[in-house]
Amino acid sequence: MVEKVRMLKEEALEALHAASSLAELDDWRVKYLGRKGGAVTQLLRSIPELPAEERPALGQAANELKGFLQERYEARHEELSRPTAEMTEAIDVTLPGRPVNLGRLHLTIQTLREMYAIFGQMGFQVEEWPEVETDLLNFELLNMPPHHPARDMWDTFYVNPKVVLRTHTSPGQIRSMRKHCPDPIRIILPGKCYRYEAVTARAEFMFYQVEGLAVGRRITLADLKGTMVDFARQMFGADRQVRFRCSYFPFTEPSVEVDMDCIICGGEGCRVCKHTGWLEICGAGMVHPQVLSNGGYDPDIYSGFAFGMGPERVAMLKHDISDIRYFYSNDLRFLKQFG
Ligand code: PHE
Repeated sequence: MVEKVRMLKEEALEALHAASSLAELDDWRVKYLGRKGGAVTQLLRSIPELPAEERPALGQAANELKGFLQERYEARHEELSRPTAEMTEAIDVTLPGRPVNLGRLHLTIQTLREMYAIFGQMGFQVEEWPEVETDLLNFELLNMPPHHPARDMWDTFYVNPKVVLRTHTSPGQIRSMRKHCPDPIRIILPGKCYRYEAVTARAEFMFYQVEGLAVGRRITLADLKGTMVDFARQMFGADRQVRFRCSYFPFTEPSVEVDMDCIICGGEGCRVCKHTGWLEICGAGMVHPQVLSNGGYDPDIYSGFAFGMGPERVAMLKHDISDIRYFYSNDLRFLKQFG
């Protein structure tokens, strides 16, 4: 019988060593020390059935085994509960933290905000209109009925025959006039525009515009020019010169193209201004009488000017960026340079 105790001890020790997790260790405890079916408990219970002379020796051996295994169990329990090297490393609070990747405003948004600030000082408020626009507002109410050849100036993404992705922010002129009529208006309308055209260094299929619109009782071309000069000087430097060139848009009459003297060479002629000395900054003009009346204003009483600017182009000139495709191709090496 004593031999049997020795074998049980050996077996139990081996199994204890093999237990490599707290769950396995608990199984071990139930198997050997469990109150109901544990091997040691069963051994102790079998003692009364033995011949009287064997009982004391076995009783002592079995009790010793029980105490011994209990101790070993506790030691192993502590061992397995101790955090491993891996776990302590995971919570090493002395390690430096990982740097947080800071976001920043996109260059276009930064430029837009500069523009809001400049026009804001002149009394223009910001208003926004939908990017998905009706053909009626994008074209027809701007003097371009269906099949009008001027529609060719804007290659268009059609959502369906009556709905387009706006090709410019000018439909916002009608929307804002209808909203504010008969009050005077001084407003800028920023937002995304879309054109179905080949993407090049100078043209993207999605880009921003900032439409400007002023409507009132005695607004003249001179007001437009003053506004453009003021903008150019605040945005690009106090001694900027501005000139108007004749142009054509169906919704302005007269229409002009606004140029400023080259910010790189000051008019001498260089790579950036293609040796003309001038840089185009926007299309503009006096709001066409028909457009005023489409917006609800009587053209015999009211007049207005409008302009359309490209903030990406403004940013390209300011930061000497040669390709508009950098703006929306999500290359952080480009975007991180600003702001
Ligand atoms: N909408 C015109 C364009 O996209 C620009 C413009 C706006 C011209 C307002 C005149 C007046 O080219």
